[in-house]
Amino acid sequence: MQFLGQSILSIEQFDRAGVKTLFDTARRLEPYAARKLRTSVLDGTVLANLFFEPSTRTRVSFGVAFNRLGGFVRDTSGMQSTSLTKGESLFDTGRVIGGYADVMVVRYPEEGAVAEFAAATNIPVINAGDGPGEHPTQALLDAFTMEKELAARGKTVDGMHIVLSGDMKYGRTVHSLSKLLSLYQNVRFTFVSPAELRCPAKILDYVRARGHRVEETEDLAGALASADVLYATRLQKERLPEGTSLTYSEGFCVNRALMDKAAPKDIIIMHPLPRDGRMGANDLSDDLNGDDRLAIFKQTDNGVAVRMALFAEVLGVADKIEDTTRPVGWFVP
Ligand code: NCD
Repeated sequence: MQFLGQSILSIEQFDRAGVKTLFDTARRLEPYAARKLRTSVLDGTVLANLFFEPSTRTRVSFGVAFNRLGGFVRDTSGMQSTSLTKGESLFDTGRVIGGYADVMVVRYPEEGAVAEFAAATNIPVINAGDGPGEHPTQALLDAFTMEKELAARGKTVDGMHIVLSGDMKYGRTVHSLSKLLSLYQNVRFTFVSPAELRCPAKILDYVRARGHRVEETEDLAGALASADVLYATRLQKERLPEGTSLTYSEGFCVNRALMDKAAPKDIIIMHPLPRDGRMGANDLSDDLNGDDRLAIFKQTDNGVAVRMALFAEVLGVADKIEDTTRPVGWFVP
């Protein structure tokens, strides 16, 4: 695949070679993301970071990734602060911002909307989540983390049993990650969800068509017995049709008791975050904090290097990163 000047709207744009290129660049950028080295390869560039839906880590990590390459960031946050509330079209907004910035990151609550921004401009647009559609950069940082964590256990993603649990219907990270993992060989997928939140058939078909084994169940404990990775997710309450009230039953709560009882000892526990810590949410429990199996903060840390790599590839500077390398002169713990 080609990165230069491209918008990144869906994981379907990637092939295995493209993933390898990106991850090789991300590995080179890890010391910069960890503030062991600095580079100013994107000196003078501007990122427009437009988030029309709530976000903490995705918005900040995109901005930080751009800053750590030496670029400037302009943010908008929320619908209310923008002219979309005055009736402006996505096309007009996309066209206007395209005249100001070198690259745009967009999160929007409707599937397909980020593609509308991309159609309005000739600068690259990166999808940071379009409603229940896709979240390609989250999938990339998830797969990057999986590769690293599995390698530490002497394994590769090929041949693994990946259990995805929670809201498979509205969870866009699951949709993008399933497509991305389909690029690997012989993966076994188990989708665990309440009956109302099953994974869309188009995603299951996509994965099956690439030769992988796909199962669906409501029994998380049963699915975990042979799992190499658990990818748990939050109930996407904001996407439920009005008047619907759904909650995860206790069987979906990923806590120490469940993992000790039902899962292999070297399982990798992942979650795109945020986890819902409210009473009765039955999301990933914080009683696993500090547990070696928990990779959630490795995911968030890796997100910076992976997003830096994507900017470097799309803006065509990946081979120039080291030209401006300098030491870091400030306090880094
Ligand atoms: C996810 C999202 O926005 O889809 N969050 C994220 O970007 N890490 C998952 C979620 O909100 O549950």
